[in-house]
Amino acid sequence: MTTQQPQALEPQRRFRSQDWFDNPDHIDMTALYLERFMNYGITAEELRSGRPIIGIAQSGSDISPCNRIHLELAKRVRDGIRDAGGIPMEFPLHPIFENCRRPTAALDRNLAYLGLVEILHGYPIDAVVLTTGCDKTTPAQLMAAATVDIPAIVLSGGPMLDGWFEGELAGSGTAIWHGRRKLAAGEIDNDKFLQIAAASAPSAGHCNTMGTASTMNAMAEALGMSLTGCSAIPAPYRERGQMAYETGRRIVEMAHLDLRPSTILTRDAFLDAIVVNAAIGGSSNAQPHLMAMARHAGVELEPSDWMTYGHEVPLLLNMQPAGKYLGERFHRAGGVPAVMWELLQAGKLRADRPTVTGRAMAANLEGQASTDRDMIAPFAAPLKENAGFVVLSGNLFDFAIMKTSVIGPAFRARYLSRPGMENVFECRAVVFDGSGDYHARINDPALEIDESCMLVMRGAGPVGWPGSAEVVNMQPPDALVKRGVFTLPTLGDGRQSGTSDSPSILNASPESAAGGGLAWLRTGDTIRVDLNTGRCDVLLADEVLARRKQEPAPPVPASQTPWQELYRATVGQLETGACMEMALPYRGVGHDMP
Ligand code: FES
Ligand code: MG
Repeated sequence: MTTQQPQALEPQRRFRSQDWFDNPDHIDMTALYLERFMNYGITAEELRSGRPIIGIAQSGSDISPCNRIHLELAKRVRDGIRDAGGIPMEFPLHPIFENCRRPTAALDRNLAYLGLVEILHGYPIDAVVLTTGCDKTTPAQLMAAATVDIPAIVLSGGPMLDGWFEGELAGSGTAIWHGRRKLAAGEIDNDKFLQIAAASAPSAGHCNTMGTASTMNAMAEALGMSLTGCSAIPAPYRERGQMAYETGRRIVEMAHLDLRPSTILTRDAFLDAIVVNAAIGGSSNAQPHLMAMARHAGVELEPSDWMTYGHEVPLLLNMQPAGKYLGERFHRAGGVPAVMWELLQAGKLRADRPTVTGRAMAANLEGQASTDRDMIAPFAAPLKENAGFVVLSGNLFDFAIMKTSVIGPAFRARYLSRPGMENVFECRAVVFDGSGDYHARINDPALEIDESCMLVMRGAGPVGWPGSAEVVNMQPPDALVKRGVFTLPTLGDGRQSGTSDSPSILNASPESAAGGGLAWLRTGDTIRVDLNTGRCDVLLADEVLARRKQEPAPPVPASQTPWQELYRATVGQLETGACMEMALPYRGVGHDMP
């Protein structure tokens, strides 16, 4: 039987898979390694031909509906790999489904990471296609690819088509948050609420808003880890299948060139990603995920870099939740390359850096200007100034972020525009221990919650929840919503959904379960936030704080599974990416293990 010969690609090299399949010093092991692949039709000649074995990390399954399109796309990835002279081998990634996984999908990021590291390290795989989509499927796989450091390329599954309900756009997640308010105000009933949710999910694909999924796929593209224009193509569009094919072809070339994540994932790449995140109104979850990817790539990214490099970047993309439109229009307007083109012209990018295309990012962006200026605003006339995260610290935590791109006019008028106190506000804290406590008590009149209050959620960090939960976008009590107060300031040691438009103070680190100051906060305390100086403090005398620190912290619930216990024992804080700290020294170790 003859097999297709590889294209003549320079420089030729010996692949690590040949240590398994073509090792004359260990012919007994080689025989063992070879024989079982033949039972589904691969020939020994193929496996011993010196062609690269290309893994396809399959993230789609019936319990990963956001990524399920990859079950189809993988066929076109295989076609591309074969046509370019590689041998595809598809294998499953541990599923991560944001909306459904209890107690939180954040637990699965590090578990999928761990599993993928073992697969890439321990099997005869020379290069890998990372199939991304739902929120954490992107960082989990890039963290693993950075750890093992074999050639890797991202193929996004793409967002769903735009959702519509009663003549208006209904965006993933955002429609749920808005529907929740209408339900609380008595404007809609349960049935209508469910109809809105269904309307927001009209096809295969991941969230069609600029939630965490679209953000993290955009981040992968901004980092240089996917082909140009990959991230925004809606899942059902024909270009998505074509992109799958081209991605399959390109990863074979990358295998021959030994073009690895360590070449692409530089500090410049991460700083550009921070800039792009601000310009697209990206998810607050980009903060821990980019930090985790950087640390696994061995890049020194400072928590303060979000402020230094991101905060002053304007909002250019008019996409929910920070703007009006959804993913289809984003793709038609030029997608991530069109946003990056604007930023490049404005001198905001460090785009003379390598990417998976083999060209510099700046070269990838040539001719990518958008023609839809309602969707992608020119840098000189942005939708909002200073759209990046504000980094905060104070006597309650060392680090937290506030997503300023979603601050609306009502919130700005009420809290941030008072004469003599621009960007400064003081609130009475109302403290909840986890979302169960919040739901049980939010409508309790005894709490006397009004516009002067800040809703605080603790026990929602990586150790406390465990995993860290998206629960800090807390809705005001129904009575306030009925009066038209849709947003109160919120603060917490957990995260919030990327599809939320709540201007919350998030990711507070250290969390209360790890000795952070939120543990000592009490309902009735006054919190002062100063966005000009980046301070957030409880206004208490030092001796009162010192006395409270002697008192027991809120209890942390027991682990429910073995992984939860392992996770808690190894995880760091959101400030530094909630990585498994013990995993960090393994970068690049064992890359050439036979
Ligand atoms: Fe999976 Fe949003 S819930 S992409
Ligand atoms: Mg989410």
